[in-house]
Amino acid sequence: MPALGFIGTGTISAAIVRGLKGSPLADWPVLLSPRNAAVAGALVRLPGVTVASDNQAVIDGCDILILAVRPQVAEAVLRPLAISADQTVISLIAGLPIEAIRSWTGAGRVCRAVPLPFVEERRDVIPVFPPDPMALALFSALGQALPVADLATFEIYCAGSALMGTYFGILEIAEAWAVAQGLSPADARAYLSGLFGNLGEVLRKSQSPLHELRIAHSTQGGLNEQVFARFTEAGGDVALADALSGVLARIRAAS
Ligand SMILES: NC(=O)c1ccc[n+]([C@@H]2O[C@H](COP(=O)([O-])OP(=O)(O)OC[C@H]3O[C@@H](n4cnc5c(N)ncnc54)[C@H](OP(=O)(O)O)[C@@H]3O)[C@@H](O)[C@H]2O)c1
Repeated sequence: MPALGFIGTGTISAAIVRGLKGSPLADWPVLLSPRNAAVAGALVRLPGVTVASDNQAVIDGCDILILAVRPQVAEAVLRPLAISADQTVISLIAGLPIEAIRSWTGAGRVCRAVPLPFVEERRDVIPVFPPDPMALALFSALGQALPVADLATFEIYCAGSALMGTYFGILEIAEAWAVAQGLSPADARAYLSGLFGNLGEVLRKSQSPLHELRIAHSTQGGLNEQVFARFTEAGGDVALADALSGVLARIRAAS
């Protein structure tokens, strides 16, 4: 069974390791880079997880290498390292082109992926470009691996992942509005958690097109229809599409 190495032991690496250890691939050995000591110290309590002496030792001791440092330090971290051309490398580093990783390290077999913290519950949908079979096998155990054939498509998924903050931002606006009308923050929060949590479950289970789901949840002439009509009339739809286009342009400019 392949050993999985991580350079960068932070939020996303911890979620992957925890998800992996509850998955059918639980017996895959895991080798962590020594930073961050607190995160690594918690993960080594899981079976088959060890901490390497340094980053090169992670590379030398694993079959599949996951790169999970922040983009700002990527070049400084990767340049001193040597990766063999036939080792599988999965980069999670936002916006970092595959070519840069190859030229800095000598790696040959490099793919990119966008796992989100939901991998911990093995409920994530994870785009993988190019669709390396080892990466697909790993991420299939953490939810649904999504093979992506070209960079332009992969970048659309990367832009889509930037919606998470806005999801909570919409809830924040709705909560503040409800509190301004007189609900307690706790009651507003409990109500919205139930509402959005249940809608998420409806979405997960349904195969219907989204406009059908919207209509199914909006009585004709009713209150839901009124809110969406006002939202689009005030430019909410345009603002959202513009924001995503802006993020996509930023991602493409960086690569
Ligand atoms: N979080 C997400 O949901 C998510 C999702 C997809 C992709 N990503 C990408 O994954 C990468 C990591 O994100 P994150 O949220 O997990 O960040 P993070 O929590 O800040 O983790 C980064 C880790 O890199 C370590 N590090 C810094 N310099 C290092 C070095 N020289 N050698 C080895 N490790 C070093 C840090 O250690 P110290 O704490 O000791 O500095 C930290 O443990 C980013 O590029 C991000 O774009 C994140």
